Amino acid sequence: MLSIAALLLAGAAGAQTLTLRLSEADKNVSPMLYGLMTEEINYAYEGGLYAQLVRDPHVKEIEQPARGQRGPTRPRYWEVSDPDGAVMTLRQNEAPVDYQNNSLRIEAKRAGVALLNRGFWGMAMQPATAYKGSLFAKGPGSLTVSLVSGDGATIYASQRVSGLGADWRKFEFNLYTGAVLKPTKDAMLRIAFDAPGTYQVTRVLLFPPSYKGHGLRTDLMELMAGMKPAFLRFPGGNYLEGNTFHERFDWKRTIGDVNLRPGHQSPWGYWSTDGLGLLEFLTWIEDLGGEPILGVFAGYTLNRDYVEGEYLEPFIQDALDEIEYVIGGPETKWGAQRVRDGHPSPFPLHYVEIGNEDFFDRSGSYQRRYMQFYKAIKAKYPQLEIIASTSEEQFYSGGVMPRSELKLDIVDEHYYRNTLGMYRAAFQYDTYDRSGPKVFCGEWASREGEPTTNLNAALGDAAWMACMERNSDHVIASCYAPLFVNVNEGGMQWKSDLLGYDAISAYGSPSYYAQCMFAQYLGDKILPVTATGIPTFTAQDAQGGELPQIYYSATMDSASGKIFLKLVNAVGSEQTVKLAFDGKRRVRDLKKIELAGSDPLATNSIDDPQAVVPVESVVRLKKGAVTLAPYSVTVFEF
Ligand code: AHR
Repeated sequence: MLSIAALLLAGAAGAQTLTLRLSEADKNVSPMLYGLMTEEINYAYEGGLYAQLVRDPHVKEIEQPARGQRGPTRPRYWEVSDPDGAVMTLRQNEAPVDYQNNSLRIEAKRAGVALLNRGFWGMAMQPATAYKGSLFAKGPGSLTVSLVSGDGATIYASQRVSGLGADWRKFEFNLYTGAVLKPTKDAMLRIAFDAPGTYQVTRVLLFPPSYKGHGLRTDLMELMAGMKPAFLRFPGGNYLEGNTFHERFDWKRTIGDVNLRPGHQSPWGYWSTDGLGLLEFLTWIEDLGGEPILGVFAGYTLNRDYVEGEYLEPFIQDALDEIEYVIGGPETKWGAQRVRDGHPSPFPLHYVEIGNEDFFDRSGSYQRRYMQFYKAIKAKYPQLEIIASTSEEQFYSGGVMPRSELKLDIVDEHYYRNTLGMYRAAFQYDTYDRSGPKVFCGEWASREGEPTTNLNAALGDAAWMACMERNSDHVIASCYAPLFVNVNEGGMQWKSDLLGYDAISAYGSPSYYAQCMFAQYLGDKILPVTATGIPTFTAQDAQGGELPQIYYSATMDSASGKIFLKLVNAVGSEQTVKLAFDGKRRVRDLKKIELAGSDPLATNSIDDPQAVVPVESVVRLKKGAVTLAPYSVTVFEF
């Protein structure tokens, strides 16, 4: 019998036909197939998912004088309302917390001068809403904290904070907006000094209501809920590793009171307050109904520094402690800490990944580092499956452990390609050796369009998802990256992202909608498909060659017998595809969900968020065939 790929390449003349081999639908679709990947990049948390509104509460983003010049170092995101009425200076390493910390010193020459913070490209204000805030301050008397319009002329909400004195104290405040306020992102926080004098302020936080009260933005959480994610891979990405050991994701510094977390520099060029820390990652995916895939720091940083042997031991202990925080009972040290932090029950956890992209570690240390982690984790938690962050080939080339002595559980593969690259790779997993480690495709994307992807990218993505889905007996999990981008100028460090937003609204790219369609219409059994007569098109890039016009995957729900057939039409002409079955199956009407557009460059944006969205209809099979719109991703349910 010819393989699917051989039949497809044969490109037999005549009608293009997909034969659904019902009698062979015996392999399971992995229940973990579709998930999310996240890290702090593109202002994903600060100015993104983490709902906190004040920019740079730790006063760590400092404007430096030009190279070779002398001059003041100035906080980049704090200003005074009237430079003649007050002098603002940066105080370093002097603040109310027990580690190095910055604060703002204001010499107010008159009452009423104020500190201003304009948030992350604006602050969103909603009517009849309670904003909860806190700050540390010292100085004479009192302050008045207000939410005001960008020009300062309109006051949306205000509260006096009194009791300031010579020593640092933490103050809390609540700001309530009125019912008549028109939603706006043109707002800022104003901290006015009620009398002349010298004040110091730091760690100013302001929270709007959030998704289930867990500190994350509701609109973004609702968009992600549409993707039905089975898991969240966190905390990175490069964000796990950091540029240096000091800048790694040091989970123990990301838990507890948000106001006392030290924060750290992210490798993507800005400061993270770590307000979105380990517990927030865990509740994020719990709130969406999935489980974590936990990446643990593996002793390797982006500047190619690494440790192993006895120097790696503290990091292995950190990983064991982290796992204990996630799944330990209240009788364990770190499980008890999680209980104190407000989450009594353990989280589900089945997968732990050792490091991120250790295929970049040219020192050859990964296999040794991996083995140290593997042995320690398996000794304490034999039920966990361990993911290696490098290919099997590269792993064994490390020379420590031959294949015969240790079979890797799972390897994490990353693919960033353009759409033609996705089409070229769209049969890659059909021929993967099933006796090798399972695959976690932990980062992938068709990188076309910016800041978020366009329809053409969604076509490439869908062809790639079809490939993973057809092979989800072996590809057990997958997640797109990066997930988020703040669309304001300066918000993006990595182009072609899935969800875009500004201070007040958010939208999904066509790639996002393709993922929703794949995850929402999914059976539990892989339904093998034989494709015949699929025409090809000539790829117009340097690599050239002929590529199939149609990509496909089918799954079946074993309880209801429902079939979900996913088809991608990569070209600009309508396609008719015959459906055939290897057994008896009467099909007349099909539910059709279609994402399509006449221009593959069509896209969604903050101003036009619904330009390319799926459309639902019911269609009738005509002469046993369905029709695919030009440049389309279509799901048929029947
Ligand atoms: O997704 C962006 C980056 O790509 C990730 O941080 C890293 O893992 C990969 O190289």
